[in-house]
Formats: sequence, structure tokens, C-alpha cells
Amino acid sequence: MKRMYPHLCSPIRLGNVTFRNRIFSAPMGATDIATDCSVGPRTPGFYELRAKGGAAAVTASELAVHPKTDASHSLHLDLSVPGCLGSHTFLADAIKRHGAVASIELNHCGQYAGTYLVDKEKKASLCQYGPIDWVRPDGIPVKALTEEQIAEIVKSFGEAAGLCKRAGYGMVMVHAGHGWLLNQFLSPYYNRRTDRYGGSLENRLRIVREVLESVRAAVGPGFPIELRISGSELFEGGYDIQEGCRIAQGLEDLVDLMHVSAGTYQIGFFVTTPPMFAEHGCNVHLAAEVKKHVKVPVATVGALNDPDKMEEIIASGKADVVEMARGLLADPEFPNKVMANHPEEIVHCLRCYTCMAERPTTETRRCAVNPLVGREMEGLDLVPALVRKRVLVAGGGVGGMEAALTAARRGHQVTLCEKTGELGGILREEQAIPFKRAMYQLGVTLETLLKKHGVDIRLNTEATPELVEREAPDALIVAVGSSPIVPKLAGMEGRNVVVVNDYYLRGNQLTDDVVVLGGGLAGCECAIHLGQLGKRVYLVEMRDELAVDCNIRQKPILLEYTHRFATVHTGLQGESLTDEGLVCRNVKGETELVPGTSFILAVGQRSNTAAADALRDSAPFVRVVGDCVQPANITQAIYQAYHAAKDI
Ligand SMILES: Cc1cc2nc3c(=O)[nH]c(=O)nc-3n(C[C@H](O)[C@H](O)[C@H](O)COP(=O)(O)O)c2cc1C
Repeated sequence: MKRMYPHLCSPIRLGNVTFRNRIFSAPMGATDIATDCSVGPRTPGFYELRAKGGAAAVTASELAVHPKTDASHSLHLDLSVPGCLGSHTFLADAIKRHGAVASIELNHCGQYAGTYLVDKEKKASLCQYGPIDWVRPDGIPVKALTEEQIAEIVKSFGEAAGLCKRAGYGMVMVHAGHGWLLNQFLSPYYNRRTDRYGGSLENRLRIVREVLESVRAAVGPGFPIELRISGSELFEGGYDIQEGCRIAQGLEDLVDLMHVSAGTYQIGFFVTTPPMFAEHGCNVHLAAEVKKHVKVPVATVGALNDPDKMEEIIASGKADVVEMARGLLADPEFPNKVMANHPEEIVHCLRCYTCMAERPTTETRRCAVNPLVGREMEGLDLVPALVRKRVLVAGGGVGGMEAALTAARRGHQVTLCEKTGELGGILREEQAIPFKRAMYQLGVTLETLLKKHGVDIRLNTEATPELVEREAPDALIVAVGSSPIVPKLAGMEGRNVVVVNDYYLRGNQLTDDVVVLGGGLAGCECAIHLGQLGKRVYLVEMRDELAVDCNIRQKPILLEYTHRFATVHTGLQGESLTDEGLVCRNVKGETELVPGTSFILAVGQRSNTAAADALRDSAPFVRVVGDCVQPANITQAIYQAYHAAKDI
């Protein structure tokens, strides 16, 4: 068979181990960790999904090698606790049985230990250790590690690696990037020690070299060791890419794969984990530069999920391995689809940060577009239906499409009715905004998959009670969505007013001074895009806060962009439109004018409750999903739709 992506699909040998292709699953924290510091029951499935999906290596994360001086989260993996090893054997098995190499990341958070602890008192009572005595910008004091403590930590990396090998992992990753302990020693900004562990580059490299030697001594020759570094710290005073290359050169003799990431978690979270506003593969240049200076194979990571681009990276020699984190949460089958020449079937990551926000919010994992993530224990496989039923889905938005697809994949005979002339629902509206293109693409991909699975798609067909009665399906899934709330404001008549949902159709009619009414997610994103187009944008929100429903990871970057591209007015209630702008009332009851000559209305969505209710008695099995239950987000719509179709 001729592969579409021959370089990406080619095997690579690291140490004594052959990896089946060039797509590695980058480290992502476990779904659950038990209170005894072993791997929790939900976690093996979390990693297994990506092994089954064809990744060549799947890296579990994050083992705390020296908990005496480190505690990264409220719970962490600790192999030194008696009785924990077996849980790792089960985890490694779950990865290996699908032909992937199981790897695990070994880390020490150093002076940022306890960063994630929600329990503020516990966090304050922890002692943070780093290269030097100092006080962190958030007021937390840090103690300098003594040479004895360094020696203990170095030893603990080796001991942990040896236990990992015994548990069945086929590779280990040493974490020396993203601002954690080993990075803190490499960094001229943080490491101002005056002993043999600080000062010159040779001295700053010392602890990492000792760690790698300790790990090698424990795992023996031929066992692959991957080293994760930040190619550049990307903040003022941190090391730059030139020094990043020298760091890689100074360590390459001790590793089998040099994994080049970017930035630090604490100062550059959005560099390390690029947001939807950043270009695909925005950090590849760092790996490409390192590759010019080392002989050892190099891996790249960061916002990569386009197989064409990934193929080009390998083919052109910018890197030897492409690592993906979020892209493989969104579609664990990505590597299998690439190997099978079916890139059109890939469900792409939206870079919405749902995955990263769930951990601090609900202590679980989730993915907006993959309903299995964090819930793998409930079953990785979609079970075929015992009896083939006739299923009708009302509504061709994201919920309806997901429900129809899932039902069809289970073997049911599915009809999807959409009252407009196109599928996609709200996703269609995202095509106007380049940084939201992945959301529009999701609709396109789901449509492609529906056609491949033989779903009978009926456009311009409203699933009325009469139609459903006529069709007499065994099961009906109602996904009739929501409609925009359009406030009745004085002076709207005859003015240049565009409801945000129509922005993709009528956005080009807007003038150079635009007032956006409504500072929810849709209003903020539209304001950003208008600002990027060079327009003067005024964003008006009634509450004191913008984007209240936005997840906690996405929100800081969304707000930064909103303030960069729009003048924001909160606490203002829009009342009427005039030739000069939007007349508002402030909290004191006074009127204020926000200037502008055209207007976007983005004040929210209302469920299409009546349409949904009309269908509730139309079939033996009826399930209502998505926005018509309550306007929410893609995550909710996909999760409800998937499970509704599984229940038939
Ligand atoms: C849910 C999640 C958990 C992560 N956990 C870790 C971790 O434990 N250790 C680590 O080094 N990186 C972690 N990362 C960072 C990723 O390995 C990766 O470097 C980053 O997400 C950029 O790649 P991407 O754009 O493909 O997601 C995590 C990322 C995500 C999305």
C-alpha cells in the first residue's frame, strides 16, 4: 500500500527499540491518582485509548521522583510507596498490548511544587526547594537545595526509572523543561548558585547530566531515554534558542531522543500550550534549530494536528518525531487514520482548553469533541446494537450529527432531518473567524463521516411531529438546538445591526466603528476578530465580568485578546441605538453613549423548547440533547448526543 504520509508513517529506532511511526503521544497528567499515590482505576484507559489509536509511544505523566522535596499536585504518582508498582504494570500493559511503547515522565517541580494545590493552607505550608534561596513573585519562600539534597534527588531519578522499567515501561522521559526543577537549574534567570551547580553553562547542566547518568545506570544500555527541554524559555532573562541549542549539545550524549518544547508553565503557559490564536506548529522552529546542532533524533511539539504539516516537518528534516497532546485527546485514532490514508476522517482539536480546565475544576479529564476522554473506564469500544433499529435524528447541528454518527456506527439505520439547507448548526457560523476554523471544520468532518456511514441526510426537512409519525422510527433523538436572543432596542429599525449568529453572512456590511453588545464568549470572539480586521471595536457587557461561562484556562487568554482588540465597557445595559452609537444605562442609573455606527448583538441563545417539546411523544424512545435542553457548549452537546445514541 502506498502511504499518503510516508515519512510520518515510517518507523524510528531509539536505543534498542523500534517505534512504529513518528507520532508520539506527549505527556498528559493522569485522570486519577489514588490516595496511596498509585495509578487510579480510571487512568489506564485514558492512555490506552491513544495506544489503540496507533500512536507509536504513549507517555504517562507525571511521576514525582522525590516527594520529600516535591509535591506537584494535591495527589501525585510516587513509585517509592510500597504497593504502587502493580498499578504501573497494569498501566504499561494497557499501552503495550496495542503495539505502542509505554513511557513515563519523571519530574520534580522544584520551586514550583504545590503550584496546583487548591488547598491554599496546604500550599503555604509546603516547603519549596529550588536552585537558590529567594521569594517567589507570589510571596512563597524558596529554599536552596543543598548538595546532599541534590545527590538524593539525582539518585531518586535513577531509582524511579529502574522501577518504571521493572513495571514494564519501555522508555522514560526526563522532564527538564517547562520551568520545573531541572529547567530551573538550566535557567540563567533562576539559577544564580555560586557552587558547581550554578554559573557557567557547564555547571548549570551538571544536575541534568547527573540525573541522566543515574537513569542510564538504572535502566541499562539500549533502553530509550527521552529528554524534554524547552528550546527557549521565551521570557526576558531566561535562556534563548542559541543557549537552548548549547544545552541540547551538552546533554545529547546521554539521551536517545531530544524532545524540544517551549517556554515555562509559570511565565509562558500559552507558549507551552499554544491557544487557538496561535499558528499550527508555532514552536517547530525551536526543534528545527536544535536539530541543526545535534546528532541525536529530535522531537517537536505544540499545536500540531495537521498531517500534511507533520509530514513536511519529518520530510524536510525539521524534526524526527512529532508529539501531540491535545490533538490525540480529540482524536486518539489520528495515527491510525493517517496510516490508513484517511485524513478527512480526523476530528481536530479545538484548542479550547476544556482538557486542561477540567483538572482544576472537577478533578477529572474531559475533551470537548471526544466524549470518551476521562470516562474510558465506562468502555472504550462502541458496542454494535444487538437489534438494528430505525433511528430518526431531528436537527443537524453538532449534537444531531454526533448522535446520528454514533447510532450509525452501532449499526442502526439512521435518518437525519435538518430544516435548513446545510448541516452544522452553530458550527457553520464559525467559518468567518480564522482562529475558530477548527470548530467549523468539526462540522465538515462530522458531515463527511455521516456520509461514509450511510446516514440518510434530509436537508430542508423539518422533523415535525407529523413527519416523525409518518416515518415511525423506533427511536428519536431531538437535537433542535437554540436560537439567538434578539433584544428589542429602540432605534434598531433601519440601522446597521447584525446578530452575531449572522456574522459569517453579514459581517462584511459592518462599518469601521462597531459596538458589540454582549460580552459572553461569542461577543468577545467576534470583537477580537473585528479588531484584528482593523476596526475600532467597543464591547458592552451588562455584568461586571466578561465571558462568565468560559473555562478557567481559556479565559485569561481570551480576556487578554479581547482587551487588546476592543475597548471594553462592563456594567452597562444597552438601551437604544442612535446615529452616534449605543445609549446605555450604568449601575448608577445614568446614561452613557458608547460610540459606533454599526452594531453586533451577542446577548445569548435561548433553547428551542417548543420545537423539542412537540416531539416528545413521537416515538417509543425519545431523547432530547444539546442546546434545546439548555444552551451550553460543544462538550455538552457531543457528550449527551453520544450517550443518547449508545442507549438505543
Ligand atoms: C491535559 C493536558 C495535560 C498535560 N500534562 C502534562 C504533564 O503532566 N507533563 C508535561 O510535561 N506536559 C503536560 N502537558 C503538556 C503537553 O505535553 C504538551 O507539551 C502541550 O499540550 C502542547 O502540545 P499540544 O499542542 O499538542 O497539546 C499537558 C497537556 C495537556 C493538554
